[in-house]
Amino acid sequence: MAESRQVNDLISIERQGDIALICIDNPPVNATGQQVREGLQKAVEQLNAEGGAKVIAIYAAGRTFVAGADIKEFGKPPQPPALPDVFNIIEDSEIPVTSVMHGTALGGGFELGLATHARIGIEGLRVGLPEINLGLLPGAGGTQRVPRLAGIPMALDMALSGRMVPAQEALEKGLIDRLEAGDPRDVAIAAAQDVLDGKLQTRRTCDLDTPKDDAALEETATMLRKKQPHMFSPHKIVEAVRASYLPRTEGMAIERQAFVDSMDTPQRAGMIHAFFGERAVSGIPEAKGDTRPLDRIGVIGGGTMGSGIATSCLLAGIPVTLVEVAQDGLDRGVATITKNIDGAVSRGKLAADKRDAVLGMLTPTLAMEELARVDLVIEAVFEKMDVKRDIFGKLDGICKQGAVLASNTSYLDINEIAACTSRPQDVLGLHFFSPAHVMRLLEIVQGEKTAADVLATGFALAKKLKKVGVLAQVCDGFIGNRILAHYSKAASYLVLDGASPQQVDDALEGFGFAMGPHKVGDLAGLDIGWMTRKRKADTRDPNERYAGDVADRICENGWFGRKTGKGYYVYEGGAPVPNPEVATIIDTVRTEKGITPREFTDQEIIDRYMTAMISEAARVVEDGTAKRPVDVDMVFLFGYGFPRFRGGPLHYADTIGAAELVERIKTYAKEDPHYWQVPPILEKMAQDGTKFADLN
Ligand code: COA
Repeated sequence: MAESRQVNDLISIERQGDIALICIDNPPVNATGQQVREGLQKAVEQLNAEGGAKVIAIYAAGRTFVAGADIKEFGKPPQPPALPDVFNIIEDSEIPVTSVMHGTALGGGFELGLATHARIGIEGLRVGLPEINLGLLPGAGGTQRVPRLAGIPMALDMALSGRMVPAQEALEKGLIDRLEAGDPRDVAIAAAQDVLDGKLQTRRTCDLDTPKDDAALEETATMLRKKQPHMFSPHKIVEAVRASYLPRTEGMAIERQAFVDSMDTPQRAGMIHAFFGERAVSGIPEAKGDTRPLDRIGVIGGGTMGSGIATSCLLAGIPVTLVEVAQDGLDRGVATITKNIDGAVSRGKLAADKRDAVLGMLTPTLAMEELARVDLVIEAVFEKMDVKRDIFGKLDGICKQGAVLASNTSYLDINEIAACTSRPQDVLGLHFFSPAHVMRLLEIVQGEKTAADVLATGFALAKKLKKVGVLAQVCDGFIGNRILAHYSKAASYLVLDGASPQQVDDALEGFGFAMGPHKVGDLAGLDIGWMTRKRKADTRDPNERYAGDVADRICENGWFGRKTGKGYYVYEGGAPVPNPEVATIIDTVRTEKGITPREFTDQEIIDRYMTAMISEAARVVEDGTAKRPVDVDMVFLFGYGFPRFRGGPLHYADTIGAAELVERIKTYAKEDPHYWQVPPILEKMAQDGTKFADLN
C-alpha cells in the first residue's frame, strides 16, 4: 500500500511496499539549502530507524535534479547540518540508496548522487563539479568519490574545468551505472525494484580505493603553478584529489578544510558576484515584457563585425539575410562566416552534421530590398555618421512596419541615427564585441525614443544568442568603450613617465587580465585608436595631457600591431617580444617633452590603472549611462577580459573602499589635476562609508 508524508516543506517520503522514494522539491533548481540538507538527513535516518523499507530511491521534482549547494547561502554563517555529513549518512545507510538524476546534477547535486549506492541517469543528464567557477572546490565528497569511481585524471578534469559531462561519457567513465529514459519517479521505482530483484548492484563508493596516479597529480600541480599562480582553489583541488588515497574520514577532512579556506577568499566573493551579476543584468523591467518577433535577422556589412554577428545568429538557429554593397565584399563576408562556422565545428560547439544546414540559413545578397522580410536589422558598417544616416534613411523605406532597426555602432549617437527614420521608436543600439560569435557581451543601447518592446527585444535577442545583454544609455562609447577611453590614458601616462609597455602589461597580467593593454592594442589593431585620436583632435580639451604621442609614432611607421607583424611587440611566430624600436620612440618623446623617467613598482601600475578605470566607471553610474554598478562589472567581465575572480571594476573598488580611492586620486592629482578628479559619487561614498554594492 502506498503512503506519503512530508519530512519538511521540501522533502517528502513515499512508501510503496519495500520501496521508499525520497523526493526533493525545491524550485527552481533544487539547490541543497539548509532545509533540503536537514530533510534528506531526517528522511534517511527515519527510514533506517523505522525498518520496513528495503531500498531507498532519491529523485527530484521539476526541471532538474539538484544543481548544487544554495549559492545564496555562501558567505553567510553555515547552518547545520553540513552537506558532507548528510552525504556520509546516506552512504552509511544500512538500507541501500539509489539516485535518479535528470537535467543537471551539479556540485552538491552530483555529490549527492555519488554518495548513493547506485546512480541512474535520465537521458539528457549532465553532471559536473562547477565549484571552480565560483572560486571554490567540491566540498561534499566530490574530490573523494569521483577519483574512486573514475580515476584521478577524470576527477582533476571535472573539478578543474567545471565542465558539464554528458550522460554517455558519465556512463562510460563509471560515474553513473545506467542511462535510461522516462519520468524520474517512474525510473526511481523501477530502479528500486531492480535492486530488490538483484538486477542492479549497489555498493558504497568510499569502500573503493582510488587507483594510484601520482604522475597525473604532479603534472597538473606543475601546470597550475605555472599557469594559474594567483588562483587559490585550483591548487587546493589537486591537494584534495590526492587525499582520496586516504580513508574517507581523513580525505573528507582535507577536502573540507580546503573548501572552507576557499570560501574565505576574495576570489570566491568576486566569482559569486559574477554568477549573480550575469543573471542580474537582465533582471530589470526594461528587459521584460512584450517582445517583437525574431524569426529572421538582417545584417548589413560583411566585415569582421557583420560576419561575426551573422555567425552568432546562425549558430542560435536564426536565419540571416546578409547585405553588402559589392560582390567581392559579399563573397568575403560569406567566406568569413563559413570559416567561423567551421571553427565552431572543430571546437565542438556545433555538430558536424549540422554545419550545412546552419550555412543554409544564410541568404547573402546585394539587394537591400531583401531586408523587407526581416524582423530585425543590425547595421554593422564603417563607423561614419554620414554612412549610417544614409543606411537608416533607406531602411526606413524598405523595412516592414514594426521591424527593429539596430546599429552596431560602438560610440555614435543612436538618437541622431534614429532621427534619420520616421520611426525612431524602432531604433536602438546593439553593440557587439569582436569576435562577435565568441564574445558574450552585448550592450543594448536605449535611444531617447526607443520603444519598451524594442528594448525588451534586444534582451530577448541577447538571450537567444546566449549573450549577456547589458542596458546602456547614449554617450560617446556607451559603458565599456567610454571607460576604456579613459583608463587607457593611464597606461599611456605610465609609459611616458617611466614604465615600459611590457612592464605595464606584465603587471596587469599579474593582476589577472588575460592580456595587458599594449598586447590588446596590438591584437585589435593600433590604427583603430589612432583614427579615434585623429577624430577627436579638434575637440580635445587644451588642458588635457596628450596621451597618444608614443602610439601615434608607432602608427606613423605603419606598425599597427599583429596584423602588420609589429606594434608594441614584434610578432614572428612564437611569443611576442618587445619591439626595440618602440623603446627608442619612447626615449625620443620623453626627451622632447622634458620628462625625466621614474621607476614604477608593479603595484603602483596596478593601482593607477585600476583607480583610473574605477573613476570613470563611477561617473558612468553617476550619470546613469549604466543603471547599476553590477552592469558595469558585467560589461568588463564579458567584453574586456577583466579577471572574473575580481568580480568587475566596481566590485573590486569595494574591496579597496571609497575612502582609499579618493585618497589615491587626490595624491595623483598633484601631478595632473585635469586627469585625476574625484567623482562626486565616490567622494560621497567615502563620507557615508557606503559601497557600490549598496547601489545594486
Ligand atoms: N543556488 C542558488 N540559486 C541558484 C543556483 C544555486 N546553486 N543555481 C541556479 N540558481 C538560480 C539562479 O540564480 C536563477 O535564479 P533567478 O531565476 O532568480 O535569476 C535560477 O536558479 C535559474 O538559474 P539559471 O541559471 O537562470 O537557469 P538555467 O536553466 O540557465 O541554468 C543551471 C540552470 C543549474 C545549469 C545553472 O543555474 C547553474 O549552472 N547553476 C550553478 C550550478 C553550480 O555552480 N552549482 C554548484 C554550487 S557549489
